[in-house]
Amino acid sequence: MGEERIGIGLIGLGTVGTGVVQILQSASSAMRRKDCAFEVVRVAVRDASIKRQVQLADGAIGTDPAAVIHDDNVQVVVELTGAAPAYGWIKEALSAGKDVVTANKAVIAEHGDELFALAQDKGGDLLFEAAVAGGIPIIRSLRSGLVANRVESLYGILNGTTNYMMTRMTRGEGDYDEILAEAQAKGYAEPDPTMDVSGMDAAQKLAILGRIAFHATGTGSDLFCEGIENIQSSDIEAARELGYTIKLLAIAKHTADGKVEARVHPAMVPSESLLANIHDEFNAIEIVGSAVGNQVFYGAGAGQMPTASAVVSDLVELAQRRNTGATTAIGDMVLDDEAAPFADIEDSIIRYFLRMRVADRPGVLAQITQLLATDEISIASVIQKERDLEGGTVQLIIVTHEARERSMRKAVAAIDALDFTEGATRLIRMEDL
Ligand SMILES: NC(=O)c1ccc[n+]([C@@H]2O[C@H](COP(=O)([O-])OP(=O)(O)OC[C@H]3O[C@@H](n4cnc5c(N)ncnc54)[C@H](OP(=O)(O)O)[C@@H]3O)[C@@H](O)[C@H]2O)c1
Repeated sequence: MGEERIGIGLIGLGTVGTGVVQILQSASSAMRRKDCAFEVVRVAVRDASIKRQVQLADGAIGTDPAAVIHDDNVQVVVELTGAAPAYGWIKEALSAGKDVVTANKAVIAEHGDELFALAQDKGGDLLFEAAVAGGIPIIRSLRSGLVANRVESLYGILNGTTNYMMTRMTRGEGDYDEILAEAQAKGYAEPDPTMDVSGMDAAQKLAILGRIAFHATGTGSDLFCEGIENIQSSDIEAARELGYTIKLLAIAKHTADGKVEARVHPAMVPSESLLANIHDEFNAIEIVGSAVGNQVFYGAGAGQMPTASAVVSDLVELAQRRNTGATTAIGDMVLDDEAAPFADIEDSIIRYFLRMRVADRPGVLAQITQLLATDEISIASVIQKERDLEGGTVQLIIVTHEARERSMRKAVAAIDALDFTEGATRLIRMEDL
């Protein structure tokens, strides 16, 4: 065991914070062999009167994050609240020369530029393994294990809540509203599920991965993001008939003009592909590296102990750095002149599934194919479903070859404006993984 114990100041002792303390208090033999010793010296919570599941020294728990940050015995501030002021606390801790570990994806995605530069300037560190994909060590793998590679592409299922919902819808266990209500009742979805179902949670995680894997600059709001709110059981059924499964995917790859194509949206993927078979609340990330080729990371993307495992791995990294007298190793997170912006989604080239309801009369299909051809969109297959007796309309499903998003949006607007189309065309992007 090393001589010096590293003083930890914890802001937040909820689900993840409690897991972190439990792991630290039962330090594994692997951690002990790495010569790491920690002591949780001070904690801030919202309500100090709540009985906690872990035992800490008398008087260690208070309600003032500043007292944690500025305690001379605290060398590492661990922020695990997800609260609105977290950005300010992290900044204050780094400014005070402390190392910081956080699980807060929103702060890292939205304020990364400022916080990593501040950490470098102050000689501190800012580690965030738990912010993306919970227990999967994807950050560390990209920053060190795969550092010899140019990452060519990244496809991920980064949000457990929506993957759980899509899995259940795919199994035919209910419609969107029913499954969401059940997920909320079981605590899998937040009372306000907007961040998850809108895709923004996955977009923030993709912005973080984009910074590391592609040296991309931009926040979650700078990349294209479409959620699962409009996915219907009938879309899932239509996908199944074609041999596809719908997943909320996070995708990043290089463009020919030096930008980074980054997008989050529901996508049809071949049902036999690996990502189609990531079920329930699990996460997965498939990476193609220039030297390693394909690599897949799979595991629990959230949960108390998986997330705590990631937080503690950051603490051990910091302890080893301190033990060897090494300085901050954050340089790779600070973007330089070579940083690439996210590309405009309209420049992406993708395959599309279109589903529309049209009047059942001669010449309709010809007009639609003509409109698509005008925008240089070529059709891979057309399926016309049986006539709907009540409305006298038929359902048309068109799968296209690769086309530019800008052209596709223009063509769909033109199709929807025709007098024989009923309602808006449903468009789902396809990825042949
Ligand atoms: N849970 C997961 O599976 C998971 C997975 C990945 C990432 N994360 C991230 O980890 C972080 C923590 O999540 P969690 O699930 O552990 O949350 P949680 O169970 O709600 O716990 C939050 C903790 O922060 C404290 N807190 C909240 N506002 C505070 C304030 N203004 N001042 C001081 N303390 C405050 C709370 O105090 P009280 O206990 O007194 O209420 C509680 O101890 C979040 O950023 C979350 O996004 C969580």
